Amino acid sequence: MPGITDEKRRRLEEKVGEFRDRQVGEAVQHVLDFDKTPAALKAEVDRFVIGQEKGKKIIATAIAFHYRRLGAALKRALSEHGGDIEGALKNTRTPKANILMVGPTGCGKTYTSETASGLVGVPFVVEDLTKFSEVGYVGMNVTDILVDLLISGGGNPHVAQMGIVYLDEMDKIAGETSTVRDVSGKGVQKGLLKLVEGMDNTVEVGKERLILSTKHVLFIAAGAFESLEGVVRRRLSRLNVAGDWRDHLASEDLVSFGMERQLVGRFPVRVVYDRLTTQELQDILTQSADSPLQAYVQDLRSWDIELRYTEEALGEIARRAKREGTGARGLTGILHRVLLDDMFSLPGAYSGELMMDGAYVREKLK
Ligand SMILES: Nc1ncnc2c1ncn2[C@@H]1O[C@H](COP(=O)(O)OP(=O)(O)OP(=O)(O)O)[C@@H](O)[C@H]1O
Ligand SMILES: [Mg+2]
Repeated sequence: MPGITDEKRRRLEEKVGEFRDRQVGEAVQHVLDFDKTPAALKAEVDRFVIGQEKGKKIIATAIAFHYRRLGAALKRALSEHGGDIEGALKNTRTPKANILMVGPTGCGKTYTSETASGLVGVPFVVEDLTKFSEVGYVGMNVTDILVDLLISGGGNPHVAQMGIVYLDEMDKIAGETSTVRDVSGKGVQKGLLKLVEGMDNTVEVGKERLILSTKHVLFIAAGAFESLEGVVRRRLSRLNVAGDWRDHLASEDLVSFGMERQLVGRFPVRVVYDRLTTQELQDILTQSADSPLQAYVQDLRSWDIELRYTEEALGEIARRAKREGTGARGLTGILHRVLLDDMFSLPGAYSGELMMDGAYVREKLK
């Protein structure tokens, strides 16, 4: 920079540094000050996620307690270390209660986790565990995960280390299906143990070398665990216990399913999500804060077309989604099929109301 004295340049760099520190500090502050109650967090999640009442309660509680505990522990460490967040992160030990989610496709497992982490204001990343078993080794993926967290945390290394990692397809690394799978599956499970407990890795960003750790990361592992219901039911009938299998899911069932006992122990919070009912699918259309139906209403409105619909039409769409068996994921595709002709031909050619009733939906889905 010509025309700037050394003194000015030094002060500029100092200011930029201070600004950066302050931003980094502010981003961390809301985790330190986290004070949402489980009930308040659930109420916010409810605006987006329909149904799954019991599951949402368990998750909101686990997440609220995790961040409350982490925030309090970091605050304590900060006052002992004179405001050094790096030292505080390193010296804080908080026992984690990671979450295991079981449930069919498209029922809101990922959606709930992502929504809740957004409400807490921490990074959220999804990692597919089948990617891990391809190499049969977790180590290589740890750097990937830390980089993903760093990106999701807007480049702030402190925030990155307080994020949530969603481990998808957890059931696919169970070592029960074949001997080949067994070996790699068990290897991956062993590696996961360390990852979940806390692993450090160096991430190079430009000239900087950041040492990041998963020690404070909350892990949510999820999968369909299709045959798990049978495993639990068989155990219950052996013991002559009646009741809903969901309320009786125990560590030993997950072990019978093919999960390593030590790994199961690292996921003490268990949540079973249900297949969505037709009514819930319909409610998603009208009540969820990011309902796919509302998205189409908005899109069409931007072309001066006002989409109206009847209960019957929504019922038809929900029944169709139910039959497809892909959970709420099916809703968008069905809506798209129903509206496609008019979405193609009406913009520019027509403005006013577009009525979607039962007959309209049935006709389009024939
Ligand atoms: N209970 C729900 N309430 C509102 N919307 C939902 C619900 N469940 C799913 N959705 C919608 O469907 C989409 C897919 O759901 P999600 O990604 O959570 O599925 P999943 O349970 O993780 O399934 P998979 O095992 O296939 O990954 C979400 O992005 C959301 O739009
Ligand atoms: Mg998912």
